[in-house]
Amino acid sequence: MVSRRRVLAAGMATASVGVTGAALVPLATAPAGAEPANAAAPAATPFTQPMPRPTVLSPVSTGGGVDVYVMTMRPATAEILPGIQSQVLTFNGDFPGPLIRARRGRPVVIEQRNRLDVPASVHLHGGEVEAQHDGQPMATIAPGEDRTYYYPNTQPHASLWYHDHAHHIESENVYRGLSGQYLLTDEVEEALPLPTGQYDLPIAVRDANVDATGLHYTMGDRQRSTMIANGKAYPYVQVAARKYRIRLLNCSNQRFMELGLEDGSEMIQIGSDGGLLPRPHRTATIPLSAAERADVVIDFSRYAVGSSVVLKNTGGFGNPELVGQVLRFDIVRTAKDASRVPDVLRELPPLPRPTAERTVTLRMDEDGRPDPQAYIDEKLYDPARVDQQVRFGASEIWTVKNLNQVAWHNFHMHLVQFRVLDRNGQAPGPGEAGLKDTVNLRPNETVRVQATFDTHRGSYVYHCHMLDHSAMGMMATMKIA
Ligand code: C2O
Ligand code: CU
Repeated sequence: MVSRRRVLAAGMATASVGVTGAALVPLATAPAGAEPANAAAPAATPFTQPMPRPTVLSPVSTGGGVDVYVMTMRPATAEILPGIQSQVLTFNGDFPGPLIRARRGRPVVIEQRNRLDVPASVHLHGGEVEAQHDGQPMATIAPGEDRTYYYPNTQPHASLWYHDHAHHIESENVYRGLSGQYLLTDEVEEALPLPTGQYDLPIAVRDANVDATGLHYTMGDRQRSTMIANGKAYPYVQVAARKYRIRLLNCSNQRFMELGLEDGSEMIQIGSDGGLLPRPHRTATIPLSAAERADVVIDFSRYAVGSSVVLKNTGGFGNPELVGQVLRFDIVRTAKDASRVPDVLRELPPLPRPTAERTVTLRMDEDGRPDPQAYIDEKLYDPARVDQQVRFGASEIWTVKNLNQVAWHNFHMHLVQFRVLDRNGQAPGPGEAGLKDTVNLRPNETVRVQATFDTHRGSYVYHCHMLDHSAMGMMATMKIA
């Protein structure tokens, strides 16, 4: 029997039992402005289950310079909390889905078999992909059917991911598990002496509403208070006292995270959505909105074997006792380390002269109405409408504004990796100095990005990647011709 004792602070739990005699009572009062503790929050003692590495998917064939994979989307159960089975939706039964490792110049073909009872459309997030293979909202695979996606891998190295994008149900499908990482490498990245092999660790982080009856989805739910890494709530991760390269993905539907080590010590961010940053960025905190990625080197040699350090989260709403930590690194052995982080990671090509400028606004109903909707340029998503006509070959500046006073958003464009030019008129921080496909916008913020549309023609969507918002309408279509 799993008790419903709160995660965290065993000392506080004990104190509470002493005072109230009931370990079920939430122990901390959430700060003003935060939501109350999740009434259904589970019962897990943190750091009791190991964090799995994602399964690296093996191709079914590699002939002709093409890696061919087969994946089956199917319902499964996952033990997110120890002893509690959650009903989830998966690629190949894995929660999250298997990891694909791809190489520039070597195409990947994935046959996706939909054995769910809902439609699905698989999108390679951040991928430079032809429109018909982009996993568009209306290009769904019906239950029982299959579809083959072609990924040319013509773009430079990048930390991509794949996830469902079926119109209006992407939010629920992704929440229930339909996502996985796709790491594309190239010779630029491979030439660097960064940690590799077992010291290159993908971690997909998210939140969810999980209780003793399993995982729950409600649109716009603010009770997603359980933090999950690679499918496990509050896992521990055994590491050696040396450098690791950690490929962080925030695959939450909505949560903004700010990740850091509990002792405030340094992490070295070396990459973002579209691959390596030009220069390493030494920092104690990594901000990550939903769908963003950060490639981070952590040097555990500063810790003694036998010690531990918690990866904390200080971003997003919720009871800090629940959402304030993600996982614990346990330093369990020493290991040789010939890796290092060079001072120069890559050179980005200079930005071309922009040939067009546009403005895009993001806004959602935030007056507390029961059925809020979310808009781009004050319009709900209509898959039949083209919202922006882009000339093929153009390099454009898009000014994106969050018009909300309270709600956060972010902005994701399909097909391209863009550059962040400025945020509220200021130069972007070093973590945003590389190639990006998703950029965060706090209330009232304005961000300018520049994207060049010279790879594929056709219709692609752009949207807020807080998927509850895109499902509420915050999505639009650009046509490149
Ligand atoms: Cu991560 Cu439209 O997608
Ligand atoms: Cu949004």
